[in-house]
Amino acid sequence: MAGLDEIAGTGRDAHRGGYSRHLWQAADLELRAWFIERAERIGLAVETDRNGNIWAWWGEPGADAVVTGSHLDSVPGGGAFDGPLGVVSSLDAIARLQASGFVPSRACAILVFAEEEGSRFGIACLGSRLMTGALHADRARALVDPDGITLADAAAHAGLDPASLGTDRQSLERIGLFVELHVEQGRGLIDLGEPVAVASSILAHGRWRLTVTGQGNHAGATLMADRRDPMVAAARAVLAVQDTAAARPGTRATVGRMNIVPGGTNVIPSSVQAWLDARAETDEETRALLGEITAAVEAVVAENGCSVSVVEESWADAVHFDPELRDRFSAVLGDVPSLATGAGHDSGVLAASVPSAMLFVRNPTGISHSPEEFASADDCVAGVEALEKLLRTLL
Ligand code: GLV
Ligand code: MN
Ligand code: MN
Ligand code: MN
Repeated sequence: MAGLDEIAGTGRDAHRGGYSRHLWQAADLELRAWFIERAERIGLAVETDRNGNIWAWWGEPGADAVVTGSHLDSVPGGGAFDGPLGVVSSLDAIARLQASGFVPSRACAILVFAEEEGSRFGIACLGSRLMTGALHADRARALVDPDGITLADAAAHAGLDPASLGTDRQSLERIGLFVELHVEQGRGLIDLGEPVAVASSILAHGRWRLTVTGQGNHAGATLMADRRDPMVAAARAVLAVQDTAAARPGTRATVGRMNIVPGGTNVIPSSVQAWLDARAETDEETRALLGEITAAVEAVVAENGCSVSVVEESWADAVHFDPELRDRFSAVLGDVPSLATGAGHDSGVLAASVPSAMLFVRNPTGISHSPEEFASADDCVAGVEALEKLLRTLL
């Protein structure tokens, strides 16, 4: 808890509540500096890779390393635990091993991923997608933040070489196995009455940008019957998203962000952008959900005299974490439960390339991506103890 307390003042969002810590902006840079200082204090050797992910090595960097970590960035107005809990727990677990006199016989590192939430440039798990090649460097460099700054410029400003962004086999090949400890983001552990679980799977998920186009016009001079108002069409589209997902059990669809153009009280908008997040258990089901949503949205938008385009911004296949690793973890931890999750994680991206696993720590509110996200001190300690035990057997 002391580790989390040290960063409790960084990136607070007075307007939204909670934290807004976005890639390479002031709060994120402050957290990166904090992490580096914290890691060096326990004797770890820190380096930043070509994509802005931070590595802190315990002992010599090397191949087949046991790597643990998470991320420090947040969603807009996010909680204190999503990401930082895994980073702080990794530091703590290694400090405990050191204090006990344990000497690792295998390379070991903490890895802090860049822009896990995609809050600045729109693509979640940016650092791990770049490392693994799941996101092409050209596409990444051209991504633009809400202020119109390209990722290439932001990277250069943060001291990285934009030309070096992209697939990083050297880094990837050093990871023998990745473990991410994370606050649980639903109520699975509340219902089970347990403090810690091992992850079983992650839903397939994607993000799409919907642009609804109508006719911009004067709010006072345009009769109601003469309007082609994209905001009204977008509102109906949101209802269609909700109805479609509600009719397909287990699927989830959300519109959490909109941009009204030009955005004046006395102006009928000319267009509205809305971002759709859709998820389901399998890739096929998620694609089917998107197909149905697209058809429903096109229909209601047309009824309002508007048009819509749907562009995929990112996609992540469903993940089933390595069953062998999971069984091994359950054995070491004494029969902890397995939990599926609806949230995406860098460990899910890495799972396509290296054996990966996750530990979840109970969240007594069952709420996440919100300031109400929480974990008790006792449960955080249970999480660190579990991670320490795993590292002890793996190293
Ligand atoms: C990230 O936390 C996501 O699941 O969107
Ligand atoms: Mn998150
Ligand atoms: Mn997270
Ligand atoms: Mn996440």
